[in-house]
Amino acid sequence: MINKRRVAIVGVGAVGATTAYTLALNGACSEIILYDIVSDIAVGKAIDIAQSTGYSPRGTLIRAVVKPEEIVDCDIVIVTAGVPRKKDMSRADLLNINANIVKEVSLNIKKYSPEAIIICVSNPLDVMNFVIQKVTGWNRDRIIGMSGALDSLRMVYQIYKKLGFGASQIRAMVIGEHGENMIPYPEISDVGGVPLTKLLSKRDIEEIVQKTKYGGAEIVKYLKTSAFYAPGRAIAVMVEAILNDENKIISSSVILDGEYGYRGVSIGVPVIIGRSGVKKIIELDFDEVIREKFDLAVKSIKDNIAILENSDFFNK
Ligand code: 2OP
Repeated sequence: MINKRRVAIVGVGAVGATTAYTLALNGACSEIILYDIVSDIAVGKAIDIAQSTGYSPRGTLIRAVVKPEEIVDCDIVIVTAGVPRKKDMSRADLLNINANIVKEVSLNIKKYSPEAIIICVSNPLDVMNFVIQKVTGWNRDRIIGMSGALDSLRMVYQIYKKLGFGASQIRAMVIGEHGENMIPYPEISDVGGVPLTKLLSKRDIEEIVQKTKYGGAEIVKYLKTSAFYAPGRAIAVMVEAILNDENKIISSSVILDGEYGYRGVSIGVPVIIGRSGVKKIIELDFDEVIREKFDLAVKSIKDNIAILENSDFFNK
């Protein structure tokens, strides 16, 4: 574990840049390194974000690098590289395109920032997180997929819209796949400690579940590309949990090795995040309904992993 508070962001599109800006706004890191395949994008955004830090409580050294080998000795590397989803594209459609991009990025991180914790953002998220761990061969605790941190924000948004009260007191848990088989979990969500199931009807809760699942797709419909403000905020919360050793429970996509009865898959479950990455995977007792949804989510992710395995992706 290093302790430079040095964070790199690979891929400085809307999500990567918003993440950098969010971190710089509150001075969470000592240094932010931006890398993009289009160097001018990284350079221009690094200057622009750096110019915004004059009003931040703490300074951040923000710089762009033009070669992967300059991403050296980082505490955290955030991987957003890849093609964002376009209208009518599913996250799985992105699978092959982004798997190859993420593989190359992962090999570079392994070589130049060998002690980093990697936060995966590229889609399809759960499969890409699995690719990173497989390609680096690192301990699974250092590879964390940003999924529930974002999906929970979207569930909180839907709950607040429905209730109209408790804005900063809403805690929503979302597990499963960051995709079609996402599992918003109302039974363990609450507002100020009051269970959600005590505050809303089954019908309203089901509406919240559906709108949460399609929160990302709804934005793609309007923007014709992926969201970036909420993803950037969610990534920043994970970065701070690591840098500040906050030991925070954040639902994230992590590699299972027997937990929930599965191994060889990355999927969203509640985990404790701190200085060393994933400190503990929390095993919930599922009822039959959730267990069936979770099994379906694992199958969906494993089916996509199998596409890569069957094309010999991991041996090339
Ligand atoms: C989303 O759900 C980018 O996957 C991210 O918006």
